[in-house]
Amino acid sequence: MTDAPESSTDSVPATTDGPLGADLRRGPFTEGERVQLTDPKGRMHTITLGTGKQFHTHRGYLAHDDLIGRPDGTTITNTAGVEYLALRPLLPDFVLSMPRGAAVVYPKDAGQIVTMGDIFPGATVVEAGVGSGALSMSLLRAVGDQGRLYSFERRDDFAQIAKGNVNSFFGAPHPGWSVTVGDLVDALPQTVENGTVDRVVLDMLAPWDCLGVVGDALAPGGLLICYVATATQLSRTAEAMRDHSGFTEPQAWESLVRGWHLEGLAVRPEHRMHGHTGFLISTRRLAPGVTPPVRKRRPSKGAADGYDEADVQAVMPSGEWSPEDVGERPVSDKKVRKLARSFSEQQSDQERPGG
Ligand SMILES: C[S@@+](CC[C@H](N)C(=O)[O-])C[C@H]1O[C@@H](n2cnc3c(N)ncnc32)[C@H](O)[C@@H]1O
Repeated sequence: MTDAPESSTDSVPATTDGPLGADLRRGPFTEGERVQLTDPKGRMHTITLGTGKQFHTHRGYLAHDDLIGRPDGTTITNTAGVEYLALRPLLPDFVLSMPRGAAVVYPKDAGQIVTMGDIFPGATVVEAGVGSGALSMSLLRAVGDQGRLYSFERRDDFAQIAKGNVNSFFGAPHPGWSVTVGDLVDALPQTVENGTVDRVVLDMLAPWDCLGVVGDALAPGGLLICYVATATQLSRTAEAMRDHSGFTEPQAWESLVRGWHLEGLAVRPEHRMHGHTGFLISTRRLAPGVTPPVRKRRPSKGAADGYDEADVQAVMPSGEWSPEDVGERPVSDKKVRKLARSFSEQQSDQERPGG
């Protein structure tokens, strides 16, 4: 079953000699690739190089033809004498500038997920939801062309956006990637054999709903890591992991990255930073039939035994978690439809002979 996922997979052999996408990260700039231009004030613009095209600002313009064929890390001066530094975007630059449907996992958290989630080359990894595909890119890079990433997304329009972003980042469909449109709870058991998955990464509103199928899919010793936005989700996920009884005691953390200002003698932390993105919680799958050792630590006085459904009912009478409940900004359906349409048009152009 593992070799033939029930999905509309984009997996085709890579057309390049080395690992997929490696050739796009080296050599002179070529037509069709993205280039990041930084002006003297540090403002960034991302352009897609096209023969005969021009990049205009209120202060002059520059011809794309003057960049095509030039080395990465070049400077270019526009018609008004403004000098730009031209660099190929790195993965974090690409993620932060790509079109988004759902909120993305930020590069600092993707780095934590890859390392603390022990995503290794050749691994079989399951991911849900796909959202805009930001985390998929880091996971695909980590598993490499010999690994497998089974991604699940219940919204078809988001899946289209993710495929468009990921294909554009790697320059071709990744040979180890499949995207299944559907709810993880229904689709996972039909896609992978029980006990064959090395790692599972969940970025969704209610990961606790998926622990049963995730527990079945994971190989003994396999790792589950969840990214959640709020402490309420974190608490409920931790309790569900404990209740499942086939997982080790979960560990939770967050990461804070504070940039530094480097100017003359003013070497100090930046005044502004992202105070919060999300929490990570991870656990390992126990071998079948093994129960976790009894915890010696007692909960502190006053701590409840577990997650209290009555508290949830009080703030959410419907019992359904929504993006707004956890403070996510809703994306308009119109914007998502427009993005999905533009990616599916791009895909049909690529599939057309000579496209
Ligand atoms: C925050 S987004 C994921 C963002 C993604 N990790 C990225 O970096 O671009 C959460 C996604 O999970 C999807 N989702 C939520 N529950 C799901 C489930 N049970 N099965 C599949 N997808 C689910 C939602 O539709 C949404 O697109």
